Amino acid sequence: MDTDGGDQKAGAQPTSTTSTGQNADYDLSTPLGTNGVGLRQNLTAYGDAHFSLFMRKLFIKALGYSEDALSRPIIGIVNTYSSFNPCHSNIPQLIDAVKRGVQLNGGLAIDFPTISLHESFAAPTSMYLRNLMSMDTEEMIQAQPIDAVVLIGGCDKTTPAQLMGGISANKPIIHLVTGPMMPGSFQGVRIGACTDCRSNWAKFRAGTLDIEDISALNEELAPTGGTCGVMGTASTMACILVALGMMPIHGATAPAVSSARLRISESTGAYAVQLAKQQLRPQTLLTRESFINAITVLQAIGGSTNAVVHLMAVAGRHPAVAGTIGLDTVDDIGRTTPLLVDLKPSGENYMTDFHNAGGMLALLHELKPLLHLDALTITGRTLGQELAQTPFRPLPPHSPANCIHPLATPLYPASSLVVFQNGNLARGGAVTKASASKDHRLLQHQGRAVVFSGSADLARRIDDSDLDVDADSVLVLQHIGPVGNPGMPEAGLVPIPRKLAALGVGDMLRISDGRMSGTAGGTIVLHVSPEAADPASVLGIVRDGDVIVCDVERRLLSVELSDDEIRRRQDERRQEQKRPGAAATPWQTRKAARGYRGLYMREVNQAEHGADFDFLTAAGPGGA
Ligand code: FES
Repeated sequence: MDTDGGDQKAGAQPTSTTSTGQNADYDLSTPLGTNGVGLRQNLTAYGDAHFSLFMRKLFIKALGYSEDALSRPIIGIVNTYSSFNPCHSNIPQLIDAVKRGVQLNGGLAIDFPTISLHESFAAPTSMYLRNLMSMDTEEMIQAQPIDAVVLIGGCDKTTPAQLMGGISANKPIIHLVTGPMMPGSFQGVRIGACTDCRSNWAKFRAGTLDIEDISALNEELAPTGGTCGVMGTASTMACILVALGMMPIHGATAPAVSSARLRISESTGAYAVQLAKQQLRPQTLLTRESFINAITVLQAIGGSTNAVVHLMAVAGRHPAVAGTIGLDTVDDIGRTTPLLVDLKPSGENYMTDFHNAGGMLALLHELKPLLHLDALTITGRTLGQELAQTPFRPLPPHSPANCIHPLATPLYPASSLVVFQNGNLARGGAVTKASASKDHRLLQHQGRAVVFSGSADLARRIDDSDLDVDADSVLVLQHIGPVGNPGMPEAGLVPIPRKLAALGVGDMLRISDGRMSGTAGGTIVLHVSPEAADPASVLGIVRDGDVIVCDVERRLLSVELSDDEIRRRQDERRQEQKRPGAAATPWQTRKAARGYRGLYMREVNQAEHGADFDFLTAAGPGGA
């Protein structure tokens, strides 16, 4: 875009002075519409629109703004800085750079706070609060006089929350992520949050790392601010934002601590002014094709399983896309999309390597035959136009520094993410990241269930030396779904029982209705729906010794029980839950819960719908 800033008045709103030199905003003979621009929009309800504007201006002048400044397009900047959020530690610098970009292009930049969520500082989980953050984002965009918004996020749940809220608010939005952290080093080996957090913790549990080693690792796994430095959920969502067209192509991969990240921020401010003038809104920009591009990228990067949940929620907010994108779309696209990016947890490298190999620009060029190039982007140009005009010189394909495989020689042939659609165990669907399996034989496996009734039961018994388990067992964890364990914790990476880990068992088939970190690997089946807490669930009636069948090729996930036996056990479970003295389940008590917890438990939907609140979806009240 043109960012020469030659005309400092470019983008200014119509002058607010009359021919007599008086401020037209106070001309009572001129009606103030309800859909104005700049300060004139979303007036506070005092019953007298002119008085509302008069009040708004006198208060903002307390901050020193001139009439000239206030006549410009107003670019809101969502500030999610928090001292509890190291993934967002660079936000003050990013805001300064965005403001520079806005003001060089004739806009007025005003930042304001919303909720900030970090994975390790949100109990019970950040996912529990994602929908609250989306509501905060939507309502603050709606409430304030803003012509376009820069959404600064980064840590896992923040970007999907912002996109969900932004689509629902439907004012022009553009995303800016904080960027990935740099890798650290331990005994000459590169390490980084959080794939290496989990693998080294597993070694510590197995006794192959001692307490000094694990303490030293703790100092180095997150050596700078920024988001996790592998293809976890934060990095996945950043790449998806580019593929959707909601963030400039260079925006996904530049390190949080780089000068490139600041230049990206400045140009994001410039694009925001352009968006304000064009009034290009997300419900116009995003189409089904945008989502197909996003899912293609998700599969090609071996992205986080969490992104599947988020994409379902995001699509569900868009009136024209909701219902046209589902888990089956993710699976269908996977069958024709190879894994190209060699990053942990599916591969070996870090986000800095992806960035240095050309990042999303290189990947999108490689994926061109699979993409909808006519999809619109935030620049006002199509994805095809962006790629055609963006200079790009790929690294030699066999360069050791190139972690982006050519389409012809992929890292994994197809379906890095698989959706189970057959069998009786997950009739609403379940997801696995097949490319992150450590023992691919387990992708076609039959074994005896060892069942844990929840996280507490798991913690109590997993390392019990008397646990009846062997390497062929299937570890089943119940009741960590959206309602059963509010927030659907990332507990699906059930640890290998210590006695097996000590024997060198590195992977087992594990199944749950919960999630796992995008940085984690193993043969893990997640998001089983209906969740165990639901009286209609099959997962909830699986018992020790039942035979579980998992066949990724056939997309089959089953327990070898007849329909009659399933119904019998479900009836038995209902009777048991009604028995006097039986502990009330979250499913039973959700209507009586108070506050946000009550809202969450009553309204959250299942994973295949994105674990969104039903009333926020496009199909919800007031929707289509
Ligand atoms: Fe924030 Fe991993 S904890 S991105």
